[in-house]
Amino acid sequence: MQPTSLPDVFDPRIHAAGPPHAAFRELRDRAPVAWQEEREVLGWPAGRGFWAVTRHRDVVRVLKDAATYSSRLGATQIRDPDPADLPFIRRMMLNQDPPEHGRLRRLAGRAFTPRRIERFEATARARARRLLGAAREAGGEVDLVRGVTDDYALLNLTDLLGVPAEDRGLLHAWTERVIAYQDPDEPPVLDADGRPVNPRSPAMLAEMFTYAQELAAYKRKHPADDLMTALATTELADAELEMFFFLLTVAGNDTVRSAAPGGVLALCGHPDEQGRLWRREVGVDTAVDELLRAHPPVLSFRRTAARDTELAGTRIAAGDKVVVFHVSANHDERVFPHPHRLDLGRRPNPHVSFGDGPHVCLGAHFARLQLRVFYEELREACAGVESAGTPRRLVSNFINGIKSLPVRLREP
Ligand code: HEM
Repeated sequence: MQPTSLPDVFDPRIHAAGPPHAAFRELRDRAPVAWQEEREVLGWPAGRGFWAVTRHRDVVRVLKDAATYSSRLGATQIRDPDPADLPFIRRMMLNQDPPEHGRLRRLAGRAFTPRRIERFEATARARARRLLGAAREAGGEVDLVRGVTDDYALLNLTDLLGVPAEDRGLLHAWTERVIAYQDPDEPPVLDADGRPVNPRSPAMLAEMFTYAQELAAYKRKHPADDLMTALATTELADAELEMFFFLLTVAGNDTVRSAAPGGVLALCGHPDEQGRLWRREVGVDTAVDELLRAHPPVLSFRRTAARDTELAGTRIAAGDKVVVFHVSANHDERVFPHPHRLDLGRRPNPHVSFGDGPHVCLGAHFARLQLRVFYEELREACAGVESAGTPRRLVSNFINGIKSLPVRLREP
């Protein structure tokens, strides 16, 4: 039996006011696997509802047990895809299960070598320095998102992929379309009947896929030390390559775009901890992980029960949607002492911001490198950072996005 009147953590608008921590705490305490209604919202039709998993232990269990909690059956977004689109969506490794998933994961892993990633450190550092320097010269008050972190994340990713400079704006537009589709700033594309079109459907992705093929063809003729060259010269089928390009474009851009301003927002809210970082009393590496724990860029991911099962005493039927909330697991007081206290030296720090199990983030090394370099350069660029206005957040139950973050960089 589910307790009555449980808080709603589905409505994307709730998350635009910041993660609903009180609601998550109530769910963790009263109903760690809680039924959620999917009401019609922002023009998107109602769905059939899902189980929200909010405790750290259960989130890890779901993510590790792909045989019971499938990424393939209904893919990985809360909203059910159009059944006709499923075969298409399943070409992406994110939406596959072992053992099939292992093949693409191995191929991709070979392209993501630590050497290739680490080569980007100097470029990322020069970029962070340039963007932060420009912000300081403009008087020290800046919208960190528009002025610094959006470009930082996008340009680092396009370097890694090997996308020419003149095409970078395209990638930005495509990411926005997919990630911000619940946000009123990004009105949905409507079909002939006036219904919103799923941004992950084949029709919406055609332009990006054509681009991916053209880029791959170019890289085969002009190989370089980048990810698209590495992928274009493997045994990946054309359709797999397109999907991989799509996955990297979205997964690699919006996450870092959220993590960097999210981390700075947390630092602004905890000046003592910021002081420790600036005085070098804590390592930047542990700080990166604590800031990712406090502000996980990904709020949730979905699985589908492959069989009848039980989780934390709740019966789940085959076919039910099961949604894990990383942001709640990261604040589970059963695992993290004083979860709402920012402790940049926190150890151990088993946050799940990069997921867990077979789909654990493939770009974690690249993401951590970018964030480490960003905080190091921020520390060099100013004596400290403080809030200069109210942040604006993305309306989404998937990405913990920050659309605008006015800050003041104090003179060094
Ligand atoms: C702070 C930044 C990032 C965060 C928080 C993050 C988070 C995640 C999470 C939670 C997953 C697991 C999805 C699931 O369970 O179904 C994932 C998967 C993935 N991420 Fe990241 N990510 C970040 C940055 C990146 C970057 C920079 C790249 C690439 C350049 C990347 C590429 C991927 C890929 C390819 C997968 C799919 C792995 C698979 O299905 O086996 N991510 N990421």
